[in-house]
Amino acid sequence: MTNKSIYIRTFGCQMNVRDSEVICGLLVKEGYKIIDEPNKADIILFNTCSVRQHAEDKVWSELGKFKKGQSPSGTVPSIIGMVGCMAQNYKEKIFERAPNVNFAVGPSDIQRIPEIIKRVISHKSQVTSQDLLEFKIWETDGGIRPEEIYHTGFYEDKKHAYIVVSEGCSNFCSYCVVPYVRGELRNRNYKEILKEIEEAVDKGITKITLLGQNVNAYQYNDINFAKLIEFVNLVKGLEEFSFITSHPKDTSIDLFKTMANLEKLKKYLHLPVQSGSDRILELMNRGYTRKFYFDLVDNYRKIVKSATLTTDIIVGFPTETETDFLQTHNLVKDIEFDAAYIFKYSPRPHTEAEKLADDVQRKEKEKRHKTILDAQKDISNEKKCLKK
Ligand code: SAH
Ligand code: SF4
Ligand code: F3S
Repeated sequence: MTNKSIYIRTFGCQMNVRDSEVICGLLVKEGYKIIDEPNKADIILFNTCSVRQHAEDKVWSELGKFKKGQSPSGTVPSIIGMVGCMAQNYKEKIFERAPNVNFAVGPSDIQRIPEIIKRVISHKSQVTSQDLLEFKIWETDGGIRPEEIYHTGFYEDKKHAYIVVSEGCSNFCSYCVVPYVRGELRNRNYKEILKEIEEAVDKGITKITLLGQNVNAYQYNDINFAKLIEFVNLVKGLEEFSFITSHPKDTSIDLFKTMANLEKLKKYLHLPVQSGSDRILELMNRGYTRKFYFDLVDNYRKIVKSATLTTDIIVGFPTETETDFLQTHNLVKDIEFDAAYIFKYSPRPHTEAEKLADDVQRKEKEKRHKTILDAQKDISNEKKCLKK
């Protein structure tokens, strides 16, 4: 047992939020105290995101504030660990760029964090702080996570919990780094998922969000995603649940029919479209067309009554012309999403799209970004007025 304190800073998506809880759960079991003041922490963890250049820049800039293994105030010598997607993306290169980082651990190895911290601490007691900076551990094997790590019962919120249904992604959208940093799709055993939900409900949780990069691809033996949510709906004591994220190519009318029937399920779908141009969708390797998406949305709205719909869009994908962009703009105006998250394309390492020239100028990306943002703002405002 230890009396050391840990501060963890989380970047990126809900999957990372959940991973930070999992890490905290494992560390609390070992006696660590989780605190929210980096200046007072013995160990600082950055749980990082690589999805866009901007996400990484934020992490590098935060790390820069922790010079020479010290907290920003310069008072407490800290051990710094980089965990998550950037650790997997950069591996040993992290230590060249951020020499104040003591160890790096990829998403598939988070269960080893307590043991790694122990090794760093025991090394630290024997050496000066300068030597400590020379001591790096790099654990990024990319295997399957052991099931136990999800059962420590650590949830940040008292009422709401994120529950992982699958890790990784095998879709390889051409712009996306996730399959490379998180590995290919692995589905958790549905019995373990349900057990975790029951445990959470026993602790007072009433709402949950099921998490996966592409939840609709869930399959464990003969249990698919529609079946899984039917089971979740039956958990006693659970009041409400939802799920993210859905991939259009794996979303079906059958799923909508199931959604419509489940009284605890929030009638909400996050269905990233990414682009309204068939040419760009193909280059993105998304596996559907504009028409397919429109038909899907029609069916969703017909079958699941009073349902909300949100999306993600990338502007400025390589070779995106004004005509391609206008198709996305029109799609946004026609579909009238309840919310849309708009991103400017940035090339990511390992990906297929990285091989294409990033040929839409920054100014043009900004203009397109603003155009969609403004269109969506008008739609969202109008929807708000209608609700009143
Ligand atoms: N698995 C989810 C989320 C992936 S990341 C899904 O498939 O929707 C979240 C969003 O980031 C994506 O939907 C996409 O819109 C955006 N994104 C991913 N890679 C990007 C890149 N290289 N440049 C800009 N936006 C990107
Ligand atoms: Fe990335 Fe595509 Fe997988 Fe989403 S579905 S995580 S965008 S590869
Ligand atoms: Fe970022 Fe990794 Fe999530 S790259 S979006 S933290 S899966």
